[in-house]
Amino acid sequence: MRVLLVDDNPNDRELIKRQLRKAIEGVEITEVARRDEFKAALQRGDFDIVLTDYLLHWSDGLAVLQAVKLQYPHTPVIMVTDSGSEEIAARGMREGLSDYILKGHMARLPEAMKEAIERERLNREYTRAVDELRQSHEALQEAMKQLQETQQQVIQQQRLRALGEMASGIAHDFNNALTPILGLTELLLDNPEVTADPQVKRYLEMIHTAAQDAAQTVSRLREFYRSRGRTELRQPLDVNTIVEEAVQLTALRWREQAEAKGIFIQVHTELQPVPLVSANGSELREVLQNLIFNAVDALPRGGDITLRTFTVDEPSPGWVVIEVQDNGVGMDEETRIRCFEPFFSTKGDHGSGLGLAVVYGIVQRHEGKIEVDSKIGKGTSFRIFLPAAAAEPRVLAEKESPVPLRCLRILLVEDKPLVREVLREHLLRQGHTVDTASDGQQGLEKFLASRYDLVITDLAMPVMSGEQLAMEIKKIAPNKPIILLTGFGDPRLAQNAYSELVDHVLIKPVTLFALRQAIAKVTAE
Ligand SMILES: Nc1ncnc2c1ncn2[C@@H]1O[C@H](COP(=O)(O)OP(=O)(O)OP(=O)(O)O)[C@@H](O)[C@H]1O
Ligand SMILES: [Mg+2]
Repeated sequence: MRVLLVDDNPNDRELIKRQLRKAIEGVEITEVARRDEFKAALQRGDFDIVLTDYLLHWSDGLAVLQAVKLQYPHTPVIMVTDSGSEEIAARGMREGLSDYILKGHMARLPEAMKEAIERERLNREYTRAVDELRQSHEALQEAMKQLQETQQQVIQQQRLRALGEMASGIAHDFNNALTPILGLTELLLDNPEVTADPQVKRYLEMIHTAAQDAAQTVSRLREFYRSRGRTELRQPLDVNTIVEEAVQLTALRWREQAEAKGIFIQVHTELQPVPLVSANGSELREVLQNLIFNAVDALPRGGDITLRTFTVDEPSPGWVVIEVQDNGVGMDEETRIRCFEPFFSTKGDHGSGLGLAVVYGIVQRHEGKIEVDSKIGKGTSFRIFLPAAAAEPRVLAEKESPVPLRCLRILLVEDKPLVREVLREHLLRQGHTVDTASDGQQGLEKFLASRYDLVITDLAMPVMSGEQLAMEIKKIAPNKPIILLTGFGDPRLAQNAYSELVDHVLIKPVTLFALRQAIAKVTAE
């Protein structure tokens, strides 16, 4: 035990020293009689406990106590005195004195010192334990928070996936339903006898427009649920260029239309140099357009929209972030959680609720992620994270060059009578000869019995599917062009899935124009 003994009376010091040496084995005592000695000892700090008299000719015991505690809050101090009082003892205890011993009761001193040191040690341990407990409590709370956030995200993703599957089913059925509506109205509009009555013509045009709008909704829905094709058209792109383009493309909305309503909106860009990302340019522009449109809608009294690009090291180094921030109306908690759901909108008739669903789908397909922060009355910011492009070879868009159509002998295989009828009618009008079959089996029989330049077949059919039919035909005549029709979603995906097998994939509802183009393409040579 190392003791600092502060007392200016040499006799007293001797008394104390003797007492300590008797009772405490291996005790080391540093004596201090003057102020400069005290200061030097404080600086060295080489003591476990301090004993001090109250009356010193250069100070007093309470000042010694304060000076020690200031520098060594955990070192016990005991006052050993005859010149103190109860009042001083009480004050000392309040200020951290460990004990107060009268010189007449010196026998108690060694025990009091041991107790004081032990108490101090327990005190320190207690404080450390409390500290550790507090820290682990904080860590636990942080972990809980993260867990809750992850859970929220998982729930949201599951919900969006379920909605995606539902949307896929709806899109399929609607495509089948829209094909005859669009096709038959086109046929009727093409017929001068029918359109002679201007009112009939007007009604037909209205039906056609409505059906086209519906087809448009279905195709946006498709954007949300379709998964990424293997060789989707992606190239290394500079997102800063895309941001600038999106700002230009949307200027009509945020500048002209807003100003016409007396709303003043400023768009700022803060674009840092970022690595290229592997992306589909038009999809990325659509993402930004949707976000900008939403920001404009959130600024009914005007305000600022800021687009930023920068890089981050989370979730992994070199990710590119595009941020779209507005200081508009903001979202409440429920809206923020649900905003990516298809058809979720707070805009009544003014919004379809598909904008962010499309954004979400596109970002997912780019292996990115999207975050949203929002505060009611303060504004909203969406952040899109995209991985930087690996140095992968470019996948470029195939060129479409329609050529004049020849008159062809076509076998049309489709199980739905209405769709079949509409397509047959279209093909006949384009000057082709058409045979029809209502399932794959019948189609194959007809194909074997006659000679055709082209086969157009639906994918999902009873008895034998379009895929099986195409396989059989390609076995017999590998070069025979085949066009596959499907009501199931994603053209690029379908094109990829069946590109080995067939020459072209057409997604319903099939328009006259698309049909012509497809035929031109597969019969080009
Ligand atoms: N920047 C924003 N500020 C405040 N609310 C927003 C913002 N962006 C989206 N929202 C909320 O999220 C909802 C869904 O947005 P989303 O873009 O999917 O659909 P919409 O804008 O209502 O309709 P659509 O985009 O199809 O015309 C909006 O109705 C709105 O409530
Ligand atoms: Mg929107």
